[in-house]
Amino acid sequence: VTTLLKFVHIATISIWSAGLVVLPYLFWQRRLLAAGSELDRLHRITRFVFVAMASPAAVVAIGTGTALIFTQGTFREWFTLKMVLVGMMVMLHVVAGLVAMRVFSPEGRFGARSTTLLTGLYLTLIVAIVWVVLAKPEIDSTQFADQLFRPGGLAEWIAQFFGDTSTPTP
Ligand code: HEM
Repeated sequence: VTTLLKFVHIATISIWSAGLVVLPYLFWQRRLLAAGSELDRLHRITRFVFVAMASPAAVVAIGTGTALIFTQGTFREWFTLKMVLVGMMVMLHVVAGLVAMRVFSPEGRFGARSTTLLTGLYLTLIVAIVWVVLAKPEIDSTQFADQLFRPGGLAEWIAQFFGDTSTPTP
């Protein structure tokens, strides 16, 4: 089961990442077209990539990833780092969806700088995540967050930030 989960995880991540990397380029192509059948075609392709490819792949990738946590027992610092990076990737996935809705309005544009920036961010995040997963860097959290991986420790750590709060007791 683990092998199958990993296979599906990596396969869907490839589709998800490919979709994210190509979307800014499709947004950028919008500038060349005035209203008409060519623009509708670009709009349909862009929607297909986001709605039918990248988004379902993301859901399956996150689902299989979550299942892998249980089969692999991945409770290490590098995995926490991976989740932070995946969180950023998900947020930028939503950004692509918002751009996809706006860029095809009559005055919609997505410039060269935005294209370079968004593509660069996607590539950086994808490479960073794959590196973290494959290199599994040894991070010693006791050096900066002693309690982080001790049961009940996270609550103490949060209390350090926000001061003592009174917990309502039912
Ligand atoms: C919520 C999202 C995700 C979760 C919960 C998750 C979780 C996991 C877990 C638990 C493993 C097994 C680790 C181990 O071997 O100990 C794994 C493997 C892997 N993940 Fe994810 N993952 C997620 C998203 C991603 C993303 C976005 C990428 C890449 C961009 C990615 C790339 C990989 C790769 C390449 C492996 C293979 C590691 C190996 O076989 O050694 N994952 N993932």
